[in-house]
Amino acid sequence: MSVFLSCHVRRGVQNAIGRNIKLNLNDGKNVRRMSSLKVTETEKGKKFVPFTDMVSSRRAEARRSIVVQVQSSQSFKELHAYCSSVGTVKQMLHYTVGVEPMNFIVVEFASEKDVTSILDKSSYVEDSQIIPVHSQFLWFRASNRKLPKLKQSKTAILNAENGNNNLTAAEIVDLLKKCDSVSDQMKQLYDFTKLNDLGTRLRFLTACQVEDAVRGMFPSAKAFPFGSSVNGFGKMECDLDLVLRLSDEKVKSDARLMFHCKALVGSERSASQRNMEAMGDLLQLFLPGCSHVRRILQARVPIIKYHQQLTDVECDLSMSNMSGVHMSDFLYIMGSIDDRVRPLIFTIRKWACEIGLTNSSPGRWITNFSLTLLVLAFLQKPPHSPPILPSLNNLVKLADSTDHYMTEDGINCTFLRNINKLKKPAGNKESLESLLKEFFEFYSHFDFTSKAVCLNEPVAITKPEHCAMYIVNPLERGLNVSKNVGLEELDRFKVEARNAAWLLESQEHKTENWGLLSIFENKRKSNNLFNFAFPNKQARLMEVSTLFENEAAPVEFKNESVKKQVESIRNEKKQKLKEIQKLNR
Ligand code: GTP
Ligand code: MG
Repeated sequence: MSVFLSCHVRRGVQNAIGRNIKLNLNDGKNVRRMSSLKVTETEKGKKFVPFTDMVSSRRAEARRSIVVQVQSSQSFKELHAYCSSVGTVKQMLHYTVGVEPMNFIVVEFASEKDVTSILDKSSYVEDSQIIPVHSQFLWFRASNRKLPKLKQSKTAILNAENGNNNLTAAEIVDLLKKCDSVSDQMKQLYDFTKLNDLGTRLRFLTACQVEDAVRGMFPSAKAFPFGSSVNGFGKMECDLDLVLRLSDEKVKSDARLMFHCKALVGSERSASQRNMEAMGDLLQLFLPGCSHVRRILQARVPIIKYHQQLTDVECDLSMSNMSGVHMSDFLYIMGSIDDRVRPLIFTIRKWACEIGLTNSSPGRWITNFSLTLLVLAFLQKPPHSPPILPSLNNLVKLADSTDHYMTEDGINCTFLRNINKLKKPAGNKESLESLLKEFFEFYSHFDFTSKAVCLNEPVAITKPEHCAMYIVNPLERGLNVSKNVGLEELDRFKVEARNAAWLLESQEHKTENWGLLSIFENKRKSNNLFNFAFPNKQARLMEVSTLFENEAAPVEFKNESVKKQVESIRNEKKQKLKEIQKLNR
């Protein structure tokens, strides 16, 4: 495999951005022109696919796919020959897992029947120590005397190679440096880091495995992905939130024969905790690839966390109601209404992660979900321009009979699902850059003390109860999504938002780390920060040293008052240095 391929394919295959990339596969003997990659699609001009249709089609795609561990990406030709002898191969996508990479190929067949046939022909190693589980996760045994090498398929095509590789932090910096404008940086960041086609396939395959594990007892069981894996705001390495429903059947009022069933013992909560415990055991003991199983059963919604090693996906499995899935539908719709929504949310989430406002472990900090709602609420009512997004109440009003959903515990999830029926708010032509600045301005001044952020109404509402930050859960209006956020974290969010707005506003020239890079780089400097916007608070705004570190090429500021403040600090610092030198003499 040429070096050319591994690095170009990595970028191209993965995140693709709607470009058609041709690959040359040089295996030393013959150079084969591979087909154009159709890994992702352009956002622009893309027909809107309703969330439920997208999920159904991804589920069906996963059901007609298998995951095969192979020696190397080059095994695809022989694997293709083998799979084609059983069914019709539609696509093959290669990815790797780990530092000393294990190689895998996702084989998508034309139909689910092909998968059944291939699994019927598959077997286990003869070993009394292994647990003989059937699943879509397989490995390709090397040829030997009894199993002669297959004739390599001439029609084989590898549709992606190293399809799950992410850009490194340094590559992202490089990418952003080369952009023409902040808006361009935001688009590129989104295009190059969003979850791609292969990443989505792997998440739906991971869900299939959980479903299959209980299918004997619960034939209509379904594991529904929700959260950023499906709502359009997921990046390449995002976790997989799954809700497992044991039955998806409607009650048949005309049935004469009824199933005998056990009744739940104890409270619903303790029963659900025990069920989750059993699921945890199932994953840990029987399912290939499931590792690091952790049971978080005391949480409001009990979950099982685990790592699926064969797809390299971190999973959070719950067995609660479907409100998370409906929430994902709502977020998916909001992201589809306007092309600027997703790049803006990616930028804000990345900014928050880079400066340490968000954290992957739970705590008093703001979560990605809360941040996402803040951005959506802002886009419903940007202060200086017409709205970009409708309120949820507007979507509820437009719902028709097909949009009615009520969870079994009474959460009304009714709202318009097909945005083709929506008259989109028009007239807002703001660039991504100006929306970003406005977002920072808006929340650095937002009256969190008395107001709640609410996506249901077109205006902010009075806070119903005392807490630092109140974001109304759009589907369960009595709940505060950001209840966990502490006062200090809220203060920090406001200060950092103000700092970011100021940094973006004040750059006159493209310095080394300009635009998004300037607002992303605070984390490294967070230990010694100087606050000149809020002089009385120990807030983190800017490290003093950055103002002086390169005296030959000092940072330039456009804003006159900022310029003066910096100037006076610089002079003060010079004065102090002189005094120290004097003392030292
Ligand atoms: P990342 O995993 O960080 O990429 O984003 P995510 O949107 O998937 O967030 P997370 O995994 O934390 O949560 C998954 C989903 O659970 C969210 O998209 C929401 O639908 C739901 N969720 C998360 N936090 C809350 C919360 O505080 N309240 C409610 N009602 N739902 C939540
Ligand atoms: Mg998630």
